[in-house]
Amino acid sequence: MDLIFRLNILSLKQIRYLFNPLLYIMELIFATNNKHKVEEVQALLVPEYKIISLQQLHCTEDIPETAETLEGNALIKARYVYQRFGKSCFADDTGLEVEALNNAPGVYSARYAGDDKDMQANRTKLLREMEGVIHRNARFRTVVALIHKNSEYLFEGQVNGVITTIARGEGGFGYDPIFIADGMEMTFAELDLSIKNSISHRARAINKLVSFLHQLP
Ligand code: IMP
Repeated sequence: MDLIFRLNILSLKQIRYLFNPLLYIMELIFATNNKHKVEEVQALLVPEYKIISLQQLHCTEDIPETAETLEGNALIKARYVYQRFGKSCFADDTGLEVEALNNAPGVYSARYAGDDKDMQANRTKLLREMEGVIHRNARFRTVVALIHKNSEYLFEGQVNGVITTIARGEGGFGYDPIFIADGMEMTFAELDLSIKNSISHRARAINKLVSFLHQLP
């Protein structure tokens, strides 16, 4: 009885996987060299999906992110990897969009203060730009581009919040010490990582990707 109930709530794909795991594992390349991102995404997926990182494929090139939008950059990375390896793959791109700065730094978040991607310098520059600004609304936005069987799909996740006046907290990375999500009092860098990961822009975009993958035939 219990087994029948359990089978009812599994998808057809999951049932097939239970009977013959080797036949139904789908490999997906995640176009990133960030080990933490790979682990985060693999943990969200059911076992019939196996994430392969660029590192595992010995692909160490710095794929140029030359587009002027997050969507464009995510697609550039996914298309590059799809053409090179011919396998289903996805890529992500994230930006911090500050309303008072016309949504800057946005797609230029990593290089806001210069090409060396110095995050301390990026935060300092942003806080300086925001000195005396009352309206401090901002959002983190992640776009994930998936290419599967020659079709392209985009998934977006965002988290709204405000920019602080000083940096606070030791955790996280990037702009975390100067961003407080709506409904929170602590910056992303002060929050427990598991809390940040459960509400983050990236988790929201990845969850949409995961739901999409789960309903593929
Ligand atoms: P990427 O597209 O994930 O490489 O992110 C681009 C830039 O956005 C990074 O260099 C970070 O500065 C910033 N960023 C991305 N995700 C986060 C986050 O979760 N917290 C803080 N900063 C982030």
